[in-house]
Amino acid sequence: MALLEIITRDNPRLRLKARRVPKVDESVRRLMDDMVDTMLDAPGVGLAANQVDVLLRVIVMKVDNQLYTLANPEVVRSSGEQIGYEGCLSVPGYIGEVARAEKVTIKALNRNGKEVRIKGEGLLARAIQHEIDHLDGVLFVDRLTSLDTLRPVAEAADEEATEGETVTLAV
Ligand code: NI
Repeated sequence: MALLEIITRDNPRLRLKARRVPKVDESVRRLMDDMVDTMLDAPGVGLAANQVDVLLRVIVMKVDNQLYTLANPEVVRSSGEQIGYEGCLSVPGYIGEVARAEKVTIKALNRNGKEVRIKGEGLLARAIQHEIDHLDGVLFVDRLTSLDTLRPVAEAADEEATEGETVTLAV
């Protein structure tokens, strides 16, 4: 087990586009494993390789107790819209409101290098879109429905308690 350092939005390297993984080999599997450890430790529901300063198209997620370790993820279909709050391990302490597709289908390579298709909706769809954005150097703060919605987590948590609003944290 190895924990990697998560870089934050003051680091310009987070804005670089990640390269495709030519082959899912042992070094890529080790990266996936270390990213999973780092994500679970944070804790978060997703992590992209850019966030640990590796410019490869690798993402990991844990949604509904299901773990995903994927290389070269690409959206092949998306539909609908969901508007909700999300946060990011690279933008600690803040959440903001972002519109995402409600459902997405992606193709990607799994940890054995086999092509897989994954359909996601709701939180999984949101996490997938958030992580693929990271691979292109895009952060959720670039996609806010309004700058006014960016706020400290503590303030949002208070509001959640009173309004029952769903808050997605740390992807
Ligand atoms: Ni993020």
